[in-house]
Amino acid sequence: MSTIPFATDFSLKPEVTAFFDAPTNTISYVVKDPASKSCAVVDSVMDIDYAAGRITYDGADQIIDFIRDNGLEVEWLIETHVHADHLSAAPYIQSKLGGKLGIGENITIVQDTFGKIFNEGTEFQRDGSQFDRLFTDGDSYQIGGLTVHVMHTPGHTPACMTHVVGDAAFVGDTLFMPDGGSARADFPGGDARTLYRSIQRVLTLPRETRLFMCHDYGPNGRDIQWETTVGDEIDHNIHVGHGTDEDTFVAMREARDATLAMPKLIIPSLQINMRAGQLPPKDKDGKTYLKVPVNGL
Ligand SMILES: [Fe+2]
Repeated sequence: MSTIPFATDFSLKPEVTAFFDAPTNTISYVVKDPASKSCAVVDSVMDIDYAAGRITYDGADQIIDFIRDNGLEVEWLIETHVHADHLSAAPYIQSKLGGKLGIGENITIVQDTFGKIFNEGTEFQRDGSQFDRLFTDGDSYQIGGLTVHVMHTPGHTPACMTHVVGDAAFVGDTLFMPDGGSARADFPGGDARTLYRSIQRVLTLPRETRLFMCHDYGPNGRDIQWETTVGDEIDHNIHVGHGTDEDTFVAMREARDATLAMPKLIIPSLQINMRAGQLPPKDKDGKTYLKVPVNGL
């Protein structure tokens, strides 16, 4: 589990532009090849006013404007995992700008789990076919001249992948900033021990590797941040730094997870994100509805 199935090329330095979504504390990224106009969009956000059942695209439109203003070409729309706290805007961005949608192959496990929880019919395919590409551990893909290597880093969810490109890695919810620690591991299919091992694997990347978070909550009142390094995480991460051992981490993570409420947007997020960000099919009246499973989560 500790070996990394590829060699990093630190001479490649992707240009990374971050977009922070304040309502969900999510950071989306445009990752550009410095040698061409090619880019990828990582973990985009679709806006929802859940109380009103209203979906809008202000955040995604900012990303689209940035891409158009800079004349970029979208090659990939990447989901680091199936998010439980925000809705993906990947299909919306794809409809405007093109690009292929990619996620980890264990999306099928997530689809199976939540297909049951939401009592989806047989028209909901559990084979990941809503995506253009399902990544396996050690897979790679191109953003122009950049090669992106994909590492399976489960624990937060079964489908979590870390995307490593040149001197940068997009860790999804595997790690938070050093003072934020780590993400919860108690969603269906999550596991604290597995998460610890995935984090250790990320931390075997070179110390100078730039790490980009999917979330930041500004602990202790500090400003929002999203970029750190492997070395900083090893030295300072409050959950896994200072050589914290596996059992200590697991005990801490499980005790902490037992105190956490469900994310506010988990119900709409999973129903939409397990469909690659598509809304559920229209009902007989031609309108779209989301379900709330009573005592189902
Ligand atoms: Fe997440």
